[in-house]
Amino acid sequence: MTRLVVVSNRVDLPPGDAAPGGLAISLAATLGNTHSLWFGWSGNVDSGSDTPRRHQRNGIDYAIVDLSREDYRDYYLGFCNQVLWPLSHGRRPDPHADSDTWYRAYRRVNARMAKQLQPLLRRDDVLWIHDYHLLPLGHFLRQAGCLNPIGLFLHVPFPELPDDSVTRELIEDLSAYDLLGFQTARDLSAFEVTARRYSSDGVLLGDGVATGVFPVGVDVDSLRRAASAMTDEAAARWWSAGRSTVRIVGADRLDDSKALPQRLRAYREWLIDFPSGNRPSYLQFVTPSRLELAAHRQLQESLHNEVVTSNYFDALRCVFTAVPHTELMGILAQADIGLVTPRYDGMNLLAKEFVAVQPEENPGVLVLSHGAGAAVELEAAVLVQADDEGDLLEALRRAINMPLSERRARHQKLLGALRRNELPRWRERFIDRLLEVCGATERAPVLNRRGRHQS
Ligand code: G6P
Repeated sequence: MTRLVVVSNRVDLPPGDAAPGGLAISLAATLGNTHSLWFGWSGNVDSGSDTPRRHQRNGIDYAIVDLSREDYRDYYLGFCNQVLWPLSHGRRPDPHADSDTWYRAYRRVNARMAKQLQPLLRRDDVLWIHDYHLLPLGHFLRQAGCLNPIGLFLHVPFPELPDDSVTRELIEDLSAYDLLGFQTARDLSAFEVTARRYSSDGVLLGDGVATGVFPVGVDVDSLRRAASAMTDEAAARWWSAGRSTVRIVGADRLDDSKALPQRLRAYREWLIDFPSGNRPSYLQFVTPSRLELAAHRQLQESLHNEVVTSNYFDALRCVFTAVPHTELMGILAQADIGLVTPRYDGMNLLAKEFVAVQPEENPGVLVLSHGAGAAVELEAAVLVQADDEGDLLEALRRAINMPLSERRARHQKLLGALRRNELPRWRERFIDRLLEVCGATERAPVLNRRGRHQS
């Protein structure tokens, strides 16, 4: 039987700590009940063994490896999160950064992961690689002799890469894949524009590789089950205000791309509309992330200062710790307004999760920014510009005054969009297409594309 081999930098190996991020959450949910191996970084920083450690949990095989201190600094914090991440989210990297050293580490780690993974592979494995950390992995796997079908899915927006030799090399790396998948048509076209700047043997690089748009979905019913498990006592720990008060919720990783200060300022301005005792209460989770980066620490400090020093009439509660995912679903279900307003985001699953768990008979309102990939499918949300505080304020006013009939009509449309693209479909669509471009199907897993004979 064909085995699915998933590779990502972040691996959600249970029992892990809470909130490993959207990528790990969706992969963990989509791999349940499949014959699969999940390979990636253990989350540990160590200079120890080069041999992957094996684990079995909930029917999934895991193989995890450590990063050395230097690789953690230069590959993960450096090239991944101070070059590729800002370029994917509308920001320029720091021009004084040591990006040559970081880029060398990026290639070194990808080359090493390919060497560590290759001996674990079987002839009929299908490889599905994830995200911006691992763009060159397919190329290094090919160099190590891997003949299996290999697809890459990018969870973040396609980065705005400068026209230089590094970009050329990365685009060549991407050409080693059989299939490249993106969250939205916007990301696919950004890839094509960049790739077509370069050619090899007279072929424009963007024209030589199969591509597709595969937006990540959610599993509506399992999210609803998780939400319904929340008890009244547990809910009361989070919502100090009673049910008669309007409740707003936001939950984001600590990151500049989430445009949190704008959101808080718009909310503060809105509070002036209300008499005391009847102010909407706002619960905002900010999950700490990449705190080794000065920019993230500064953002955390400035958000903290804003919350402590500004007058929110005690209506705002900002929680700077991770909340377990199942508990978060319960909290989302009890909110009247979901505020999901990143400046840029590949998808933003929270927007979909909010819709999934809302009660159909009396649903809340999703306020969503155009910059989130989710806005393409969730166009029945109240759509806003993340940086425009006036627009955010208007959206809040609109949400609180929205009649039940309109809330229901919008929610039905949003739910319909989720149902058309549930999480298992995401995996199936990607893998089916990968097998198709490799000239195989899941029922006949004998892969023979380009002479890569498997028997
Ligand atoms: C979020 C993004 C993913 C990214 C992940 C990395 O989940 O949506 O695209 O891979 O963060 O987070 P990490 O904690 O591993 O740096």
